[in-house]
Amino acid sequence: MTILLQTNSVGKAYGAYRALSDVSIAVNAGEKISIVGPNGAGKTTLVNLLTGLLVPTEGEVFFKNENIAGRDPVALAERGLARAFQLVHIFPKLTVEETIAAAIVTRQKKRWRMFSSLHGDTSVTKRAREVAEIFGLENRLDTVSQLLSQGEKKLLDVASAFALEPEVILLDEPTSGISTNDKHRVMKTLIAAAERAGVKAMILVEHDMDLVATYSDRIIAIAEGKMLADLPPKQFFSTESVIEIVVGKKRSH
Ligand SMILES: Nc1ncnc2c1ncn2[C@@H]1O[C@H](COP(=O)(O)OP(=O)(O)OP(=O)(O)O)[C@@H](O)[C@H]1O
Ligand SMILES: [Mg+2]
Repeated sequence: MTILLQTNSVGKAYGAYRALSDVSIAVNAGEKISIVGPNGAGKTTLVNLLTGLLVPTEGEVFFKNENIAGRDPVALAERGLARAFQLVHIFPKLTVEETIAAAIVTRQKKRWRMFSSLHGDTSVTKRAREVAEIFGLENRLDTVSQLLSQGEKKLLDVASAFALEPEVILLDEPTSGISTNDKHRVMKTLIAAAERAGVKAMILVEHDMDLVATYSDRIIAIAEGKMLADLPPKQFFSTESVIEIVVGKKRSH
């Protein structure tokens, strides 16, 4: 098995508060992994460590055998690691097409100075439209991002991550703000898009256990900054002590 992403007893303290400690995981090519746990468990902290956004206070994180602590997210995206955020990170004044095009341009190792000529680059425009269509945003191409609904903003953020054509993609609650009825449709879209884009591994933070059960090869549970379990779905859902902790607390947001 090819390990793409790996942590070695990784931990993070915010000042005196230890949000995460001693987490060792490995993500192999071909895997879809879910990270679950109550609010404040440390899931986003782990995703931030896995994507170089946070520098660990203990342990190490390796992406394709390279220590990525504090690496610039653009450089990591170019190496094949991309993410979407729990709270959407989009440029409010750009249109949907421009937002996706910007991600494509990043992938092509061109920079922002190229942006002014984007409209003239038909290959980028064509690809941006294809990506928008995968995520059902084809009717919103000229809409300024800040005018999108919360669900559409979420999809745009995820679409931008996919436009980077990553090997590994991390999605922090991609279906939050999306109605229960639409969650499965969105997940199916994401997985089909990942397969089509040649994504080798997907890491999903998700609170909806129905989605977790349906779309994971392996489930990692975290509570109070500690790893509780790292199991395939069948074993995970038959370990009652873990389930109780994971779903026991109601979401506060
Ligand atoms: N920048 C920060 N400074 C101080 N404390 C933080 C910071 N970021 C997170 N925390 C704290 O660390 C803990 C873990 O937060 P984290 O965001 O990783 O949780 P989470 O599992 O993603 O929760 P949720 O399900 O609500 O998104 C929480 O107690 C949170 O308040
Ligand atoms: Mg979180």
